[in-house]
Amino acid sequence: MSEQQSQQPELHSNGASGKEYRNGDTPRPRARAAGPVKGFSPRFAQIVGWGYHVPEKIITNFDLEQIVDTQDEWIRSRTGIEERHVAASPAETTATLGIQAARAALEVADIPPSKVDLIICATSSPEHIFPSTASIIQDGLGAVNAGAFDLSAACSGFVYGLSMARGHILAGDAEYVLVIGAETLSRIVDWTDRATCVLFGDGAGAVLMAASDVPGGVTASVLGSDGSGADLLTVPAGGSAMPTSLETVSSGGHYIKMDGTAVFRFATRVMAEATRQVLDRAGLSVDDVDLVIPHQANVRIIQNSVLKQLKIPGEKVFVNLQKYGNTSTASIPIALCEAIEAGKIQPGNNLVFVGFGAGLTWAACAIKWSVPVSRPETTWWRNTQRQAVYQAAAARSMWKRAIRRVYSQFPAESRWGGRKEEGEVG
Ligand code: UT7
Repeated sequence: MSEQQSQQPELHSNGASGKEYRNGDTPRPRARAAGPVKGFSPRFAQIVGWGYHVPEKIITNFDLEQIVDTQDEWIRSRTGIEERHVAASPAETTATLGIQAARAALEVADIPPSKVDLIICATSSPEHIFPSTASIIQDGLGAVNAGAFDLSAACSGFVYGLSMARGHILAGDAEYVLVIGAETLSRIVDWTDRATCVLFGDGAGAVLMAASDVPGGVTASVLGSDGSGADLLTVPAGGSAMPTSLETVSSGGHYIKMDGTAVFRFATRVMAEATRQVLDRAGLSVDDVDLVIPHQANVRIIQNSVLKQLKIPGEKVFVNLQKYGNTSTASIPIALCEAIEAGKIQPGNNLVFVGFGAGLTWAACAIKWSVPVSRPETTWWRNTQRQAVYQAAAARSMWKRAIRRVYSQFPAESRWGGRKEEGEVG
């Protein structure tokens, strides 16, 4: 436990610690207390729920051989990727994948959406420039008490999100935060560019973080950026620098462009450095690490960084990119879920999540895993209740839209009882 954490006053206990949070009868935080405060105990940010969702459609390397000039052998040996999931149906979007992953995380934690205070959606392929994908996910979950925003840090985004969530929880501003990494990169990949289209896949992963008085959780984080490398991995058009035009569309300016070799070099260096730094901040050595979950971009990057430079043995590094390709912000949470399913994570384990991406950015988190990994028994009644909550959320959203449509039919005078809105003329 870091010194800073030991100084955090307890604000509210919660489901993760088995105690009840009683809103209103607990003191407000003194988050920057100079030392341990009498009557307060430390507060921690624990991962208490996890889930993922990938589209059904799988594209193998052999399928890609039919589309571009590539070979299964090249993709396998240069990247480790064998297949990837792709959102084939127009109904599958970044938000719908994110909603499924978030629902799974809430189910593991057995927490209703109404208890979530904040939703952070890290994504490189958002639903729109605005509104945020996070707001659409908030509506789909019926998380009526949650704030929501998107986080743009490319493939490092999920780890950035964990760090933000931890900050909100330790400051006493939130009890439950959903951190989601969700992508439909297949929609912004140039399927004629063999240098990029073989690498990426679609999917979403989510964790629910909770305030807790149980020591552990996310104990340290390292965030980094080097914008001088902005042009190495980018979708050049569609923003303020290059607004959408016929020219940007016809020249393919809305697709991912990448200098793969430069990104490879940067990633290999920064993954090892960030892991070292975060372990240092958490007061741990490389030998203390039970499992590293790196961003799943290329198995050679993982081998050349965490395995070779840090000399962490292969069995302590989780890799599943052969099944999903690079799912950007979703890669670490999907890998976390599969590591749990594979029995690779147990209470008491020290984990490191480390990522890199466009920006350039990098990020690492140290986690002391402290919650049981077994999924709670779920009854048909509980499932029915959950379905009812989501159906009610959908109905509420439709109702609000309908009311707005009806309301917009009336002239402004009658809407505002004859008064004009501020700034309204005429
Ligand atoms: O989340 C962050 C996202 N980005 C990354 O993680 C990317 C990091 N970079 C990489 O993973 C690697 O640089 C790549 C996998 C993208 C490329 O691997 P490489 O070993 O650096 O290959 P290269 O770009 O140096 O290309 C070697 C050869 C070239 O042919 P010549 O010029 O030697 O004749 C390429 O044209 O391989 C060719 N090539 C391909 N051949 C078959 C490039 N892409 C393909 C392909 N299939 N898909």
